[in-house]
Amino acid sequence: MNGTSSVAERITELRDQINDHNYRYYVLDDPQIPDAEYDRLFRELQALEQSHPDLVSPDSPTQRVGATGQTSFEEVVHRVPMLSLDNAFNADELRDFDRRVRERLAAKSEIEYVCEPKLDGLAVSLHYEQGKLTRAATRGDGYAGEDITANIRTIPSVPLKLRGGSYPDLVEVRGEVYMLRGGFEKLNKSLSDRGEKTFVNPRNAAAGSLRQKNPRVTARRPLEICAYSVAVIDDSDLPDNHWGCLQLVRDWGFRINPEMRLAQGASACLEAYEELQAKRDQLPYEIDGIVFKVNRLDYQHRLGFVSRAPRWAIAHKFPAQEEVTVVEDVEFQVGRTGAITPVARLKPVFVGGVTVSNATLHNMDEIDRLGVQIGDTVFIRRAGDVIPQVIKVVRDKRPRSARPIQLPTTCPVCDSDIVQLEGEAVARCSGGLFCAAQRKESIRHYASRKAMDIEGLGEKWIDILVDRDMVRTVADLYRLTTDDLRKLERMGDKSAAKLVNAIQSSNRPPLWRFIYALGIREVGEATAKALASYFGTLENVMAATEEELQAVPDVGPVVAGHICSFFEQEHNKEIIEKLRSQGVVWQSEDISRANRPLAGETWVLTGTLENHTRDQAKERLEALGAKVAGSVSSKTSCVVAGEAAGSKLEKARSLGVQTMDEAEFDNFLSRHTA
Ligand code: IVH
Repeated sequence: MNGTSSVAERITELRDQINDHNYRYYVLDDPQIPDAEYDRLFRELQALEQSHPDLVSPDSPTQRVGATGQTSFEEVVHRVPMLSLDNAFNADELRDFDRRVRERLAAKSEIEYVCEPKLDGLAVSLHYEQGKLTRAATRGDGYAGEDITANIRTIPSVPLKLRGGSYPDLVEVRGEVYMLRGGFEKLNKSLSDRGEKTFVNPRNAAAGSLRQKNPRVTARRPLEICAYSVAVIDDSDLPDNHWGCLQLVRDWGFRINPEMRLAQGASACLEAYEELQAKRDQLPYEIDGIVFKVNRLDYQHRLGFVSRAPRWAIAHKFPAQEEVTVVEDVEFQVGRTGAITPVARLKPVFVGGVTVSNATLHNMDEIDRLGVQIGDTVFIRRAGDVIPQVIKVVRDKRPRSARPIQLPTTCPVCDSDIVQLEGEAVARCSGGLFCAAQRKESIRHYASRKAMDIEGLGEKWIDILVDRDMVRTVADLYRLTTDDLRKLERMGDKSAAKLVNAIQSSNRPPLWRFIYALGIREVGEATAKALASYFGTLENVMAATEEELQAVPDVGPVVAGHICSFFEQEHNKEIIEKLRSQGVVWQSEDISRANRPLAGETWVLTGTLENHTRDQAKERLEALGAKVAGSVSSKTSCVVAGEAAGSKLEKARSLGVQTMDEAEFDNFLSRHTA
């Protein structure tokens, strides 16, 4: 480089490149370079700006945080008010809306609508002058909001500078700032690890993050923005429809929601509603409905506004996923491993599409964290198939009669002592298989679909069989005869025979199902499969030491400990023996060397693979018998190095460990897989 002018050129070049990569990453979802390459460009720019402070400018991608100092929250009066939307709560209300639109416009044909997800975040307005972000504000009361420019600048998907050259001199872009569910969960986890207050949902987390005085805090929060409207303040021309405006905003560098679509008339809108609702739980962010907007801007203009909402748009809401109700009581349930779970009995409430009258409170720590008492009014959340949760207490509504929730000292089912180990959140009944609740749960687990899959042996019959002492452990199931069962109320000859048959024919399970069915703590389906294919026989699993168990993929010290202590207990060994003597034969696995050519080897994956995700590559290796580790040592058998591999590859080379690039790895896999 020679002199400042070429430094200035390089700086401009780097800024353009970085902005371009940002756009591809955040707006087009189509990154063109690996993260490491992006980081190199970014660091080069930072270094150049540091040695030439006179060349730093506020729209440089390095200046998202810090340059403007604290967020002021000064009042900002909106030049065009930020209105709200009327709601339609059902199909009839939506059809009424469409009819009113057609009548007002005296339209002869169907109206074209833009259908947009209603993002559950916060509305913001962003001002650009000569293409540069000059001011960002919250909606506030619609007429005036607060200046949050310094915070908004930290959001990576907000362009600091509009792309291209064809933007108006003065333009206002509006959109929604929100947090992805994944980011929200991570944020809450790290807040609670540090003993700080968590947020109840992604929307509150987004609001809290924008309300930060210090933009450095906002910068660490996983916020995103989607643009949904544009208003020009000078006299430039815009396209003559909303859809065209959205495409324009996208060209300027904003993300617009990929689920947006056009619909002709009310029926097509209702279809779009159904389709979006079906996708709702799979989307990585939360939405609470769909917004329909008349596409033609001249129509929008003619329709105008009533009070605070436009006549040309409406929000069709989805069923709420959060509601308020009262905790009427708390009961304690006993699980298969004795875990005591407090369950809130609720005043029934319709939420997430069903009536909910129970919600788990998980454990006593959770009760402390929520500060919930019996009698409290609480927020309940039920999203998708997830079990209903209590997420927040409304403290102002606590009645005088409210009572704190206390962990009982003895098991509500068998009266044995309840114990809580140091450092464990879960309290347990110490009764073991003496406790009817634990027996019932262990039989239910044994018979369940993923375990021994005994059809017809449901909760109802298990309760009866255990309560009458006809079955104490799973081994007793195989002794049941048609005659025994026929004596039970509401059990006919046919069903009795059917159940006995279902039990008897469950006696040749593959080894992994049997291991899973035993109900060892923290041994789920995947771990059971890994154990079966690693050890081949139950005897080998039972004889394994904790150390040997940890050689199995995904088995860590905690799970290994649970497995060992399960097989150390006499009564567990007895049950297995009884099952065997009653003719239950689990099928051993073929673990011959031919099937598992990498048994005993440890492999390491590093860098980015083109044709596999990390998890896929790991699975393939584990299926061949290898253990996949995170760090390289002299014991490592082989390192697979993808694109931009760094220190692990170097270490492997320096230790003389075998390495493979992706092409060699693919080749290797194809030679070893049938
Ligand atoms: S349009 C006049 N479009 O919903 C038009 N709003 O109830 C007003 N929202 O404050 C807004 N997604 O925070 C619009 N695609 C979308 C939206 C959306 C979410 C929010 C926004 C607004 C509220 C109005």
